[in-house]
Amino acid sequence: MGYIIKIATDTDLDAIHGYLNFLFGLRLEGISLREHGISKIEVKDFLPDNKAINDQLCLIALNGDDVIGCLTFSRYGKPEYRHAGNFGMSVHPDYWKNGVGGLLLEEMEKWCRKHDFLKIELEVWSNNIDAIRLYGKNGYSNEGCRKGSIIRGSNTYDLLLMGKWIG
Ligand SMILES: CC(C)(COP(=O)(O)OP(=O)(O)OC[C@H]1O[C@@H](n2cnc3c(N)ncnc32)[C@H](O)[C@@H]1OP(=O)(O)O)[C@@H](O)C(=O)NCCC(=O)NCCS
Repeated sequence: MGYIIKIATDTDLDAIHGYLNFLFGLRLEGISLREHGISKIEVKDFLPDNKAINDQLCLIALNGDDVIGCLTFSRYGKPEYRHAGNFGMSVHPDYWKNGVGGLLLEEMEKWCRKHDFLKIELEVWSNNIDAIRLYGKNGYSNEGCRKGSIIRGSNTYDLLLMGKWIG
């Protein structure tokens, strides 16, 4: 199917806000809970202003006018860390296993190369098999593990650190 991946702008704010609140409402066992959802002000912070244009990226996946996926990336702030950044992503469950996650990663990496990043990092819950497999298939390696960092209800999970050199 012809999904479009694009860099989000202010005009996408309402659509991203709607999508993310839907997603958080699912209480997925791989994304931190937000009992009160996400505000438009928080979503706006994902969208780079002119100052952050080389440091921050928000990509959305569209099916027609509907936002069906979102990826946010940001550069680390401290001088010794600025060659790298980390990201978070999600796809609407109705569209899982259609290649949308892979497309979002591909576009992020293009943008990161264009903006002289050397490395991309991420954190993922150890139970999140689909995400770990997606990252592994796309060249992200295991770089460490924070034991028992996540407790939700009666479940305890490790936080896996993954990374990919692109420089
Ligand atoms: C993790 C996540 C982003 C993956 O997104 P996705 O769009 O399903 O990813 P893709 O479709 O690119 O790849 C997933 C699988 O579908 C397969 N696939 C891709 N295109 C396909 C197609 N046209 N037909 C069948 N399978 C396909 C891929 O090969 C891959 O297979 P695998 O799981 O056996 O390795 C999604 O599951 C998600 O949003 N999860 C909840 C949020 C989350 O956990 N985010 C990550 C936090 S770290």
